[in-house]
Amino acid sequence: MSAAWYLARGTGVVSLVLLTIVVAVGVATRSGRPAFGLPRFAVTAVHRNASLLAVVLLAIHVGTLLIDPYARLRLIDVVLPFIGNYRPLWQGLGTLALDLVIALVVTSLLRHRIGLRGWRAVHWLAYAAWPVAFLHGLGTGTDAGQLWLRGTAVLCAATVLAALVWRLSTRVPALSTVDGRR
Ligand code: HEM
Repeated sequence: MSAAWYLARGTGVVSLVLLTIVVAVGVATRSGRPAFGLPRFAVTAVHRNASLLAVVLLAIHVGTLLIDPYARLRLIDVVLPFIGNYRPLWQGLGTLALDLVIALVVTSLLRHRIGLRGWRAVHWLAYAAWPVAFLHGLGTGTDAGQLWLRGTAVLCAATVLAALVWRLSTRVPALSTVDGRR
């Protein structure tokens, strides 16, 4: 096994952890209140920076998989899901998650152009991207049988679940109030 293969797996796991943080902190951002003992602007900054870091880690995840011969990854597999040579279903979920993440990042960068409603409609996809990425990691991961990865997965799932429960049990303010825009 080459160094690229290990790096690909490692960055896959870190990406999943980062996406978990992004989702949980994103939900906290929407509350419009201080969270984790941080003022609101700091929570937003964590959300934004963790997303960008996740994108960098995902680029390394996919880039190293393209270099390493084991998964026989082609450029088209990075964009189009479920047509891969290697575990097409589980790998395809990774591609789907990446497509969703890219849509989220691009619309966030263009937020001032597409308007709050359009941005928000796409941002709901975050709730779909996380479980798709989670299933990909557990379904295809060589390390999915290892205790450390299972423990990490349980912690990630518990974090997102806690954020969801909190979101559903709290009245969040209208987006314009949180964001300061209309
Ligand atoms: C949001 C996007 C993604 C996340 C969070 C993610 C996460 C993960 C995780 C956690 C693993 C398991 C690593 C291990 O077992 O140690 C993994 C493995 C893998 N991922 Fe991804 N991944 C994503 C996107 C992709 C994409 C776009 C592709 C390729 C098109 C891909 C291909 C693979 C492959 C080939 C493996 C290795 C499977 C193995 O260990 O046998 N992933 N990924």
